[in-house]
Amino acid sequence: MNDLIGFFDSGVGGISVLHTAHRLMPNENFLFYGDNLNAPYGPRPLEQIRALSAAGINRLLSRGVKAIVIACNTATSAYAEIVRAQHPEMPIVGMEPALKPAHFARHGGQVIVLATDATLRLEKFERLMALYGDDVICVVGEGLVELVEGGKAASSEAEARLYALLGPYIDRQIDAVVLGCTHFPFLRAPIQRLFPQAQLFDGRDGTAQRLKYLLEQRGLLSNDEPGTIEYQSSGGPRAVALMQAMMTSLS
Ligand code: DGL
Repeated sequence: MNDLIGFFDSGVGGISVLHTAHRLMPNENFLFYGDNLNAPYGPRPLEQIRALSAAGINRLLSRGVKAIVIACNTATSAYAEIVRAQHPEMPIVGMEPALKPAHFARHGGQVIVLATDATLRLEKFERLMALYGDDVICVVGEGLVELVEGGKAASSEAEARLYALLGPYIDRQIDAVVLGCTHFPFLRAPIQRLFPQAQLFDGRDGTAQRLKYLLEQRGLLSNDEPGTIEYQSSGGPRAVALMQAMMTSLS
C-alpha cells in the first residue's frame, strides 16, 4: 500500500515527529502539511484552532491519504476527537504531552510540562493531570514556537527566552521535563543545559510506533520501494525550505 501518510502541524514542529516516523518506516510515502502562516495555534481560542486544524487536515484527506498523524499536541487536544468521529475508518494518530513516562521517572523531585497555552488549558490535559499530575509544574512556552518558526531554535534569543520561562525552577529538584509541543524537541539542547540532571520526554517515538501498529494491523504498511517525503505549507517556499532544513538538522 503505497498511499500517502498525511502529517499535520501548525508549522515546522511536526517535522520532529515526521523524522522519527520516517526512520521507523523508511518505505512509506509521507505528505507533511504545516500551517505556518497561522502558527502559533497555542494562544488562539478553541474554535479558531478547530477551524484551522479542520482546514489543514481536510487538505490531507483530499489527497486520499491512508492515515493521518496530527503531529501537534495543540491541534490534537482541540480537534482529534472530532475528526476521528467524522472518519471512523481512518487511522488517526494524535499526540499528548508525555507526562505518563515522566511521572514514573521521578525519584523524589518534580516534573515540568512545557507546552502551549491551549494544550495546558484544554480538557484532554486535565484528564492526564488527574492521573499523573503529582508534583507537576506547568509552564506555557510563550514565544518559543515563534522562535522555532523563525529558524532561531539554536539562537541566543531562544536561550534567553528559555531562561526567562524556566529559570525560576533551576534550583529545584527537577527529575523530568516534558516537551509537550512538537516544536520543542528543536530546543532540546538548551533545555537540557538548564536541567542537566533531568530526563527529557517527548511523544515522538510513541506516536511513530502507534502509527506503525495501526498500519500493520490494517495491512497498510508499505514495504517495497524507499519512500518519499513531500512538504507543503500555507507559509510558501520559505517555510518549506525551513522544514527541509530542520529535517536535515535531525539526521
Ligand atoms: N507544534 C504544536 C504543538 O505540538 C503547536 C504549536 C503552536 O502552533 O502553538 O502543540
